[in-house]
Order: sequence, then C-alpha cells, then structure tokens
Amino acid sequence: MDQYIIRGGTRLQGEVEISGAKNAAVAIIPASLLVRGVCRIENIPQISDTDTLLTILAELGARVSYLNKSTIEIDCTDARCQGAPYDLMRKIRASYYLIGAMLGRFGKAKTTMPGGCNFGVRPIDQHIKGMRALGAEINVRGGYVYADAREGRLRGARIYLDKVSVGATMNIMLAAVLAEGRTIIENAAREPHIVDLANFLNSMGADVRGAGTDTIKINGVEELHGGTYTIIPDQIEAGTYMVAAAATGGEVLITNVIPKHLEGISAKLRETGTFVEEYEEAVLVKGNGNLNRINLKTMPYPGFPTDMQPQFGVLLCLANGTSVITEGIYDNRFKYVNELRKMGAEIQVDGRVAVIEGGRRLSGALVHACDLRAGAAMVIAGMVASGVTEIEDIHFIERGYERFVDKLNALGAEITVRSEDEESSARLIQIS
Ligand code: UD1
Repeated sequence: MDQYIIRGGTRLQGEVEISGAKNAAVAIIPASLLVRGVCRIENIPQISDTDTLLTILAELGARVSYLNKSTIEIDCTDARCQGAPYDLMRKIRASYYLIGAMLGRFGKAKTTMPGGCNFGVRPIDQHIKGMRALGAEINVRGGYVYADAREGRLRGARIYLDKVSVGATMNIMLAAVLAEGRTIIENAAREPHIVDLANFLNSMGADVRGAGTDTIKINGVEELHGGTYTIIPDQIEAGTYMVAAAATGGEVLITNVIPKHLEGISAKLRETGTFVEEYEEAVLVKGNGNLNRINLKTMPYPGFPTDMQPQFGVLLCLANGTSVITEGIYDNRFKYVNELRKMGAEIQVDGRVAVIEGGRRLSGALVHACDLRAGAAMVIAGMVASGVTEIEDIHFIERGYERFVDKLNALGAEITVRSEDEESSARLIQIS
C-alpha cells in the first residue's frame, strides 16, 4: 500500500481550486442510467469513487467518454439490466444508488450491499422501505440486494423517512422519477447534493420539486432526455482546506465554492478565532496561530457536517482549553482518535462524545487513514506536527480528494507519496 510522507511545520499559503462535489457526482453518475440519450456532465471530480462508478456503468453497457479532465459524456441508451460487478460495488458506499437507478430504468436491480467507510452499523433500511412503498419487492440474501418492480414499473407513493438520510432521500428520488404518478418524500435530507441531484434530473426532463426542504415531490415522467449539467463544488473538500489553513496558521483563498454551503463550517471556524471572509465564489481563511476552544455537534444539513468532524478534531487539539465534539450522525466516528493519540493528542471518547484537551504539540508518527475524512484529518495533523508523519491506507483519502497532495504542495506543504514498490525496496536495502 502507498503511503504519504509529510514533513510537518509548514504554513499553507496561496490559492486552491475546489473540484466537483463527490457526494453529488456519485449519485448523478448512476442517475444517468435513467436517461436515454447523452448526458454531458461537467465538474466531475477525478477521484477513485467516480472512476469505480463509471467502470460499473461501462460494464452495464453505457458508453462513457472523457471530453477533458472534468467533463464526461455518458450514454446509457443501450445499457443492459444485469448484475453489477461485485468487487467494484462493494468498494464504495454510493453503489446503493444503483438500486434506485436500475429499478427506475429496468424495473429490476441486483446489487451488492454497499461498502465504503465503516463508521459502525450503516443500515439501508430506509432505502428499502422507500423502494417497497414504490411497489418493489426487495430481498437481501448472501450480501446481495435483489429488487423487482412487481408491476414492471414503480408506482408513486407517500414515504416518510424514519431517519433523515441523505442516501435514502436520493435513492428514492432516483427510483421515483420514472415511476407512474406522484411520490412525496417526507422528512427528507436537505444537503446541497440533494438539490444538485434534483437539478440534474430536472435538466434531463424530470419533475422534482422541493429539494432542499424536508418535503420533496416527484411527478413521474415517461422518459428522460440527454442534456448538459455542471456539478456543484465539493463542500467537504473546501471545508478541509479551510481547516488546513486555520490549523497551519496559513492564509488560503479557496476558489470555486458556494459560500452558502460552507456556512456551518465558517461559523465554527470563526468561533475558534480564525478569520473567514466570503466572496461570491471563494472564501479566504487566515489562521492566527491562537485558536479558541469550542464545542460542536454534527447534524444533518444545515447543521455542522459529520464529514468535517475529524478535521475539526485535529484543529481543536491545537486550541487553548478543552473542546467537546458530539457526533450526532454515526455511532463510531472517533476511530481516528487512536491515531491522533500516537501523535501526542489528549482526547477522551465516551460513546458519541469526544473531549479534547487543547494546547498539545503534535509530533510525527506512523499512523493510518481509518477512512476518507479521518485520512484527511491525519494529513492536517501531519502538516502541523513536528517531524515526519507517515500515513498508511491512503487509498481511503484518494476515494474523495482530487489531487490532494498536489494541491497541498502547491500551497507549501511538503508531502511525498511513497509507493509500495519503493517501500519494499527500501526494506530490502535495510535487510541486506
Ligand atoms: C452520506 C454521505 C456521507 C455522509 C452522510 C451524512 C454519500 C455517498 N455519503 O452517507 O459522506 O457522512 O451522508 O451526511 O453521500 N441510516 C439508517 N437507515 C438508512 C440510512 C441511514 O439508519 O436506511 C442512518 C445511518 O446509519 C446514519 C444516518 O442515518 O446514522 C445518516 O445516514 P445517511 O444520511 O443515510 O448517510 P449516507 O447516505 O450513508
């Protein structure tokens, strides 16, 4: 496995451009399965999760071509209804969107149970409840999900989600756009990527209203046509650079962002004493090297995003005083704390609450990226620590950050990637 080697003590300075939103792209790519015609999608992030989904679509018979590094064309006119490849699907969480998309297009789906980051139990019962309400028979056996529209085509229904779920909201939207009649999703999630999926579907001829509120109404249409769509910038990638700037006491202009989507992150950074200024499509973050302690709790949007919790965990190790983080979404999202402790952090975790004793000096260590965002947090920790930090399992980070090392190094970080081959030859040299 490749590693990041980070020489700490650098201060980030300059300008960084944010890529397209991962969590929008991983729903919009499967959504193109619903379209007979060419979908031109701009601002696609070049990350391994999107590569995996595009490979899955190609295996289902889609024609996929890159027009440039961030623009693709997907034509699913000749896509076939067949089981998607197991090994690819279980790599990513978002493979669950193929259930809704395949059901909507073919009236049938066979997928694996989703993979992705492990934050404890991540059930898909609300997705299944929604599909059943739309008239699908769903069976989960041997790690596979089998779905079948009993009447050949799904039928609109009123669905109340027992839990505010991003994935269930978007999956039900995918299944419902070509269903017969009207679907109403109540207690829907409101994240920016939900609005983005609705905008994509509407630009291809769907009739989805209310995305961004907790009630989404979908009037089923007979078919979707091709078109061009631009994915929104990634809220979490932007937030990660904002925290990296604050933690290193740097000054970074983060461009190609929608500042409204960053409000929760900006508000919490300002509470730490970090300077944040918003422009039309950019934010400027200036760290002052003197951070206040804060408390924060993760919540569904517009609350503070759980995907920014580990990065703030690192930042608060550097603050003056004791901070408390409460994780409001997942049962087990503090696994990175053990890695931070190896670097000198003092954090107590009790269930969903972490108490962080600030004012610590982190020092370089060999650590793991436990998952995507935890991995990004370890990179920030490595940049502020004294000495050298080696991060293993970086494949998690590459699932969601486009050219992470290049972008950080352009801001003044000192990160190199050590490939597995170099590592084993280094070991051989040591042995001989
Ligand atoms: C998505 C994001 C992930 C983010 C999360 C919360 C993608 C691909 N991933 O994940 O980055 O951390 O939203 O913002 O977009 N739940 C159930 N039953 C269900 C579905 C969810 O109990 O059927 C629970 C989950 O275990 C969790 C909570 O609901 O506790 C929220 O999960 P959800 O919003 O569905 O997250 P994901 O869509 O998996």
